[in-house]
This record gives sequence, C-alpha cells and structure tokens, in this order.
Amino acid sequence: STSINLAVIPGDGIGQEVVAQGLKVLAAVLPQDVKLETREYDLGAQRWHRTGETLPDAELEALKAHDAILLGAIGDPSVPSGVLERGLLLKLRFAFDHFVNLRPSKLFPNTDTPLAGRPEIDFVVVREGTEGPYTGNGGSLRTGTPAEVATEVSVNTAYGVERVVRDAYERAAARPRKKLTLVHKNNVLVYAGHMWKNIFDTVGREYPQVTTDYLHVDAATIFFVTQPERFDVIVTDNLFGDILTDLAAAVTGGIGLAASGNINPTGAFPSMFEPVHGSAPDIAGTGKADPTATVLSVALMLRHLGREELAVRIEDAVAADLAERDGTFRSTDRIGDALAARVAG
Ligand code: IPM
Ligand code: MN
Repeated sequence: STSINLAVIPGDGIGQEVVAQGLKVLAAVLPQDVKLETREYDLGAQRWHRTGETLPDAELEALKAHDAILLGAIGDPSVPSGVLERGLLLKLRFAFDHFVNLRPSKLFPNTDTPLAGRPEIDFVVVREGTEGPYTGNGGSLRTGTPAEVATEVSVNTAYGVERVVRDAYERAAARPRKKLTLVHKNNVLVYAGHMWKNIFDTVGREYPQVTTDYLHVDAATIFFVTQPERFDVIVTDNLFGDILTDLAAAVTGGIGLAASGNINPTGAFPSMFEPVHGSAPDIAGTGKADPTATVLSVALMLRHLGREELAVRIEDAVAADLAERDGTFRSTDRIGDALAARVAG
C-alpha cells in the first residue's frame, strides 16, 4: 500500500470551486489501499490583501515535501496585474524548476468547437517553463515619459533549451505517430531562434525514429485552425507556448477542458498541475465553472506519479461524460459528481 501526499492551492475565483471537484474525483478513483493526504495552502489574492504576502519562504519550503501540487487559479482584479502572477504562480514554476509545461489538446466528442467533426486531433504542447521572456530580465528607462524605453529580454540557455527539447523527443518517441514540431520565429529572432533550431537538430540525431518539422509561430497559428491533425508533439518557448495553448484550447473544446502540468521531470521538486484557464472572477460563485480541466489535470498528475491506469480511467470518464452532454446546464458540483461516479463505477 502506498500514499499520495498532495499540496492543494485553490487560489482565487473559480479556483476554489474547480479544485474541490478535482479532489472529489481523485478520492473516487484511488484504490482503497492508496492513502491520500492533502494539505491546503492559503495563497492568492485574499492572503495578499490580509498580509501583503504572495509566497513566503516558509510555505515554499513546506511545499517541497509534497509528492505533487494541485493548483486552481491565481489572479484577481483587486490585485495589481502581475503581483500574484509573478510573486506566486511564476515563482512556483521557477523555484521548482518546472521546465516542462505540458499542455495536451484532444478533440473530445460532442464538444462545442469550431473544429467539431474534424478528423482526430490529439497533440501535446511541450512549452518551456523557466526561461524566455518570463524571467523578468528587463527594465525601463525614463519611465512614464514620452521618451521611455522598455526592454523585456528573452533568456535562452543551451542547458535550458536542450533539456526541454530532449523531453519533447522522449514524449514523441513514446507516441504512435512519433512526430515532433519545433515552433519558433527564427526568421526574426535569429539568436534564440537559431540556437533552438540547432539544438533541436542535434538532439534529433539521437531519435532517428522521430519525424521532425519546423514552423514559425505565426504559421503555426494558421495550422492550429486549418490543419490541427498535422500535430503530434510540439516543442516551443515559454511565451509562444502560452499563446499557442490558449488557441489550442479554444479550437479543441474550449478553455473549460484544457489541462496542464508544470513538470520537473528530474523529480528534484514536486510538479504542479493546474487547469490552463484563469480565475474567471466574472463567474466565481455562480456554479458555472466547468471543473473538467481541473479533473483532467488530476489525470495528468496521476500519470506523472506513475499511475497510468487511473489517469486513463479519468480521461475515459471525461470522454463519456462529454459524449452525453446535451447542452442542459449542469453546475460545477454536478459535473464533479458525475465524473466521480463514473471513475468509481
Ligand atoms: C498560463 C497563464 C500564466 C502564464 C500567467 C497567469 C502568468 O497565462 O498559465 O498560461 O502566462 O504562464
Ligand atoms: Mn496562458
């Protein structure tokens, strides 16, 4: 018998509501002999208003002891933009070296999407998670004046690019189609872009079984809409990956279904699983939030923890639930109940 020691950060807005359903489904899918321990962390907008803290060192330290982290959503209109994003969410991703930001997209049956009825869409974006323009490397001169100059430097290290590219090749090699697409913009971003492409080609020699492809990011957005079947695994930088995965979610069933994992494949720190969507303050408390993205993030977590059969059970339950949706309103709670019943049954 084993146990899962899970940190839970519900966060802001609908984060609370969707995380409750994720935990409900997790409890339902776990076999009797697996003990689930959870510890909830009070982090987010309310904590910041109360104490001015975003992520104190003591909490960061305590989080390290968990097997994984489940996060709802971070961000609230009452907090200045960037304070919680940088001080909490990105701080966690950087501190725990979550260099693989894994964002799968699958066209589930019966979902409301511009691509409904298309041939099977099933790809995964491996978004770099610790570098690029997200490092806070920049500044502003003559701030607020008509002569202001602002820089936001994209940091790309050979070490950082190689490890995420290698992870993407491993994932591609393990999938039936074995195809990996690098997305960048090396016709304009000639320093980082050429380094990414060189490393992509060099590492690729170790994976002759993987078919490779390169697309500029602007062209990739076209193919996401016109030809999404062409993608299997995509590897890209932090900011391109951020933008592409919102687009991917929109065209494959909506942001209510998009799951993600912030993964440290070395296991040195706990990985963190969260829906791609934000805190949606406009619908917080109304019961309108779809918890499916969080439930699918729980599946990613179980897969990461080596419990593939449980992950598949959740994904099958979601597919079955979606297939039966007929447009009738179901609250956050009811969707969670339905999914919990399916994985238990
Ligand atoms: C995401 C979000 C975050 C990001 C923000 C909230 C910092 O958009 O998880 O995609 O840009 O990574
Ligand atoms: Mn985003």
